[in-house]
Amino acid sequence: MALLIRDGRIITPTEDFTGDIYAENETITRIEPHIDAKLVAPGAEVIEARGKLVFPGFIDPHVHIYLPFMGTYAADDYESASKAALAGGTTTLIEMICPGAADEPVAAFETWKSKAEPLAAVDYTFHMSVVRFEEHIRHQFREIVKAGVASFKVFLAYKGALNLSDEQLFAAMKLAKDLGVIVTAHCENADAIDALQQSLVAAGKTGPEWHGRSRPPVVEADGVHHLCTFAELLGTHVYIVHTSCEPAVRAALDARKRGVNVWIESVIPHFVLDETFAERPAFEGAKYVMSPPLRAKANQTVLWNGLKSRDISTVATDHAPFRFGDQKQMGRDAFTKIPNGIPSVQERVDLVHTCGVAAGRLGLQAMVDACSTQAAKLFGLYPKKGTIQLGSDADLVVYDPGYRGTFSKEGSYSRVDYNAYEGWEQKGRASVVTVRGQVQARDGEFVGTIGRGQFLKREPTH
Ligand code: URP
Ligand code: ZN
Ligand code: ZN
Repeated sequence: MALLIRDGRIITPTEDFTGDIYAENETITRIEPHIDAKLVAPGAEVIEARGKLVFPGFIDPHVHIYLPFMGTYAADDYESASKAALAGGTTTLIEMICPGAADEPVAAFETWKSKAEPLAAVDYTFHMSVVRFEEHIRHQFREIVKAGVASFKVFLAYKGALNLSDEQLFAAMKLAKDLGVIVTAHCENADAIDALQQSLVAAGKTGPEWHGRSRPPVVEADGVHHLCTFAELLGTHVYIVHTSCEPAVRAALDARKRGVNVWIESVIPHFVLDETFAERPAFEGAKYVMSPPLRAKANQTVLWNGLKSRDISTVATDHAPFRFGDQKQMGRDAFTKIPNGIPSVQERVDLVHTCGVAAGRLGLQAMVDACSTQAAKLFGLYPKKGTIQLGSDADLVVYDPGYRGTFSKEGSYSRVDYNAYEGWEQKGRASVVTVRGQVQARDGEFVGTIGRGQFLKREPTH
């Protein structure tokens, strides 16, 4: 099946020009000011993109789809998450494999793959969480890397559930260095959070508004500093996920100045939502409980400026969907039991466009870099993904910057019963989204094929 996109304004981090893109056999074969109709295969899908932007398919490098967590399971599967992602212009997902401490890593990898294979309509890959590191399972992580999962995930948070002891963290980061894989990390000091949680709950401070007080910015900055110390000692390349506040960004940039190979991810909720959302009355704040928590508004400026200067490399979502009606209610008695997460996989790109580009905070090229290209480069997907060039996969987003609409639960594919951005004005929308040359979404609707998504095998690049 051939695909021709005519007359679009083509945007990559380094280019901005108007032209045609032609794809055959799933890859881009021509990019020219005007492609002669004689060169177009009969029956090719032709998309008129005059007045529209054409972006490389967006990549979300941090999502949770199958996620046993805090006594429940995240509400999406690959079908609903793919539809949501594609409706919002995201064509590749990188999911965190998050096994329990008792699970065997290879078995966990197989489980996560088996969840994705039949249902994915986006292309996908994984970060492999190391939630336990013992000598006798070391070979399993080697096998997983050999099978194409070239990045680890570690948690410095979630005491007693996902976090590693320092001894295990050091050993896992050493293995990552030896294998040439990058370590993605949730950086918050688990012991400090545990102590703060206990004292808040003991004082009767049990509502969702107290979640943020149990993990203040210094707790996150401490986690970043700690991870970077190990990275400095070992030479491991590290990627701090969901960096939410000025002290944490500063800790990472200080480490970078010392020569640490550290990259910063921030996630869309932290750019556009502040701590007051988690303070909403009648337990509504529970919809906005995630970790690290939503912060004071001033931090949002730091994040937008960090994107503009490219100090912050990526905007992800940390999509972690839990229903308000039952799952978030598990924490009615104590905020410590509210499943953490704010679903955003469908809204991410449109929020960056609405609150970043249309608000004059960010250029289009920086948007593409942060939402697609940097993730591809950091995680070994480039130039197959993350750009528009000859030989790249024809993952393309024809984007209408003039579209005006409203974010809503009704317009969203995620299987939750609320939208964190309900009623907000949406400026811009993907008109057409292709994955390897096939149209998978149009005007916010999934029109593709479930199960067409492919596992992306990645080589170590660090
Ligand atoms: O609140 C969050 N972030 N939930 C998902 C788990 C994680 O920490 O990434
Ligand atoms: Zn996390
Ligand atoms: Zn996460």
